[in-house]
This record gives sequence, structure tokens and C-alpha cells, in this order.
Amino acid sequence: MDFTELESHIENTVSEKRMRHCKATASVAVGLAGRFKRYHITEEDARIVGLWHDIAREWGDEALYHFCVEHDITMEVEEQECPMLLHGAVASVLLRQRCADVPQYYIDAIRWHTLGSTSMGPLGAMLFIADYLEPYRTHIDDPNKVRILSLSSLEQMCLDIISMTEDYFARRKACPLATSTLNLKQYLKVGGTF
Ligand SMILES: [Fe+2]
Ligand SMILES: [Fe+2]
Repeated sequence: MDFTELESHIENTVSEKRMRHCKATASVAVGLAGRFKRYHITEEDARIVGLWHDIAREWGDEALYHFCVEHDITMEVEEQECPMLLHGAVASVLLRQRCADVPQYYIDAIRWHTLGSTSMGPLGAMLFIADYLEPYRTHIDDPNKVRILSLSSLEQMCLDIISMTEDYFARRKACPLATSTLNLKQYLKVGGTF
């Protein structure tokens, strides 16, 4: 994988604001990879998925949905109802198209960064956490960012993020958690690990 080429492709594809978010996500994910060495996730792994994960975030709903239909991507019900959520699935296929030798764990991490999943693996967990609380995120305050990052495992951090998301949805009277997120929550609650 040509890392420099990949990074300049991202720079040329997404907006400046999105790029700032991607770089910040990559940076937090790299920090998590360095902290939780037992998962054998390298800094380069964390950096690449962090930079790439939102490559399709600025596509419209229709383009995302049609790409998934054309590429036979299995969609969650919630993704069909809210195609914006498909940007993770689309990004994973785009990375595979660009780099045939991309490891499967990159694909799984990027695929599931929107909803979270028991299939996202440790790299996916790092991406899920970093995406939620990178420094530019404003939907969560700094004390909560610090609190989540001070938890002692990726599993606890993901569980906390899912609870906060659930509370946020309840306050906004929005839809309940997606099935994939709920399954991850149940899995982590009974001690499941990445
Ligand atoms: Fe995203
Ligand atoms: Fe993101």
C-alpha cells in the first residue's frame, strides 16, 4: 500500500473540514494503538483507517445507496433507512478497489465505524472510539472525552460511547440504537472482547 499516494488521494477527495476530522481521528487512533499494544495494531494501521474512514461521508444518500446495490453490499435495515450510515461500507469497498492487498481487518474496521459491530475487531474499536471523541468533536464535552479515554480497555470505552449515544438518542426522541450497535452492547456487557 502506497501510504503517501493514499493520503494525497484523501486530501484531494474530501473537504478541508472533513480532512481535519480524519487527521484528528487518525491521531487519536494511533494513540490507542500505542497504548493497547496487546492487540498488535500498528500505528500505520490506525493511521490509515483513521484517514480513510470518511472518504465517502460527503456523498449524497442516493449515491451511497446505489453504490451498495451495484456492489452487492449487504445493508443493515437502519442503513437502508438512513443511507448516510452506508458511508462506512462504501469506504471499505473503495479501499479494497484501490489497494487489492489491503488487510481484511482494515476493511472490517472501516465497514463498521458508523454503527459499531462485534465484527469490527480491535482496529475497528480504536476507530470507533477515535471517531467519537477526536478533539474537534463538539457533541461531547471535554470532561467526557477525558473520562472515556481514561477507561482501562477498548471494550469499556466502546460500551460507554454506546450508552452515551443511547442517552443522546433518547433525549432527542430519535430512533433506538441500530441492531448492530445493540448486539455489540450486549456482547460487551457479558464480557465479550475484541
Ligand atoms: Fe464516518
Ligand atoms: Fe468520522
